[in-house]
Amino acid sequence: MYQPLHLKYRPKNLQELVGQDTIKTTLTNAITSDKIAQAYLFTGPRGTGKTSTARILAKSLNCLNSKKLTATPCGECSSCKTIDSCSSLDVTEIDAASHNGVDDARELIQHSNFAPAMSPYRIWILDECHQLSTSAQNALLKCLEEPPAHVVFILCTTEAHKVLPTIISRCQTFNFRALSVDAIVGQLHKISSTESIEIASEAMRVIARTCDGGLRDALQLLSQLSLLNSEITLTQVAEVSGSISEQDSIALLKAIHSGDTLSVLQSSRTLIDSGKTPKLILSSLLAAMRDLLIVKSTRHCQNLIAGPVGYSQLRSLALHLDFETIDAACTQLQKSEFQLRTRASVQY
Ligand SMILES: Nc1ncnc2c1ncn2[C@@H]1O[C@H](COP(=O)(O)OP(=O)(O)OP(=O)(O)O)[C@@H](O)[C@H]1O
Ligand SMILES: [Mg+2]
Ligand SMILES: [Zn+2]
Repeated sequence: MYQPLHLKYRPKNLQELVGQDTIKTTLTNAITSDKIAQAYLFTGPRGTGKTSTARILAKSLNCLNSKKLTATPCGECSSCKTIDSCSSLDVTEIDAASHNGVDDARELIQHSNFAPAMSPYRIWILDECHQLSTSAQNALLKCLEEPPAHVVFILCTTEAHKVLPTIISRCQTFNFRALSVDAIVGQLHKISSTESIEIASEAMRVIARTCDGGLRDALQLLSQLSLLNSEITLTQVAEVSGSISEQDSIALLKAIHSGDTLSVLQSSRTLIDSGKTPKLILSSLLAAMRDLLIVKSTRHCQNLIAGPVGYSQLRSLALHLDFETIDAACTQLQKSEFQLRTRASVQY
């Protein structure tokens, strides 16, 4: 059966979780020393491993093939299997966005009093918990503070600031970080070679850069690009992700540098006609200029590059530009971005 890459490669234990080193260590130690909190809050940007870690923790607590808590759940017993397929009787994943009312909270509290069916713990994973209404959050407070001994809550959210401070203070909080470009490239590399997907390494870096530190988005993009059935190139990544390609960015930069106004206008027109917004064009140019400043100022900065143009191309462009010119261009582009934002309506 076809499974998209981001689901097929969901980490099954803490070792498989990419990045998040402090979280891995803390949770592993908590599990092996039997110091389990009654309520956890996992917060951080989307696609960084919150739900995956919640399921791993649930398996660690409920794995039937281990006499005590284990940081390496077997993945084979009926408890592990049903947690992975979201059909466990004792581990319930609740989408708080659609079960956000006070009645839902009361039902959950009532259910918590029953002993788990076949495993040591009854675990509630409340996904997107910031969507719970204030009254639902308030109803949960008491239960979160002193749940029955067999109950563990794992709250997940991308927007911790929308969760009541009284809830937060009753949970042990884990901050999931956006993953580094290198970490994402590493995972893309591993998965593309396992899946025999041919992809240029520069193209992997561009995928990683466009995903703002979220691995799910990166894998989704890779899934989609793999359907092209040829070696994945930089241009294809730009096309599928809707960003501005390296080629187009370089053409614009060169035209700006040589003062070729007609060519700047024509290139921009072509980009806008192909669906790119002026805001996107400006921000890509700004990112490229910022990268040029870095390349101009320091060596060995490959991992700092964040824009649409790759390192080797940046180096050759930087040869023809001095620091002051690039700096002035950055300032001007920032000004233009601001103007674009503050203009009510402009015809392009
Ligand atoms: N740290 C990570 N290590 C390995 N894979 C990851 C990691 N983060 C995300 N992924 C990949 O992305 C997919 C989605 O991750 P997950 O559901 O854990 O993200 P999330 O933080 O809960 O995101 P959201 O806030 O959008 O719910 C996983 O199945 C996995 O393929
Ligand atoms: Mg999630
Ligand atoms: Zn198991």
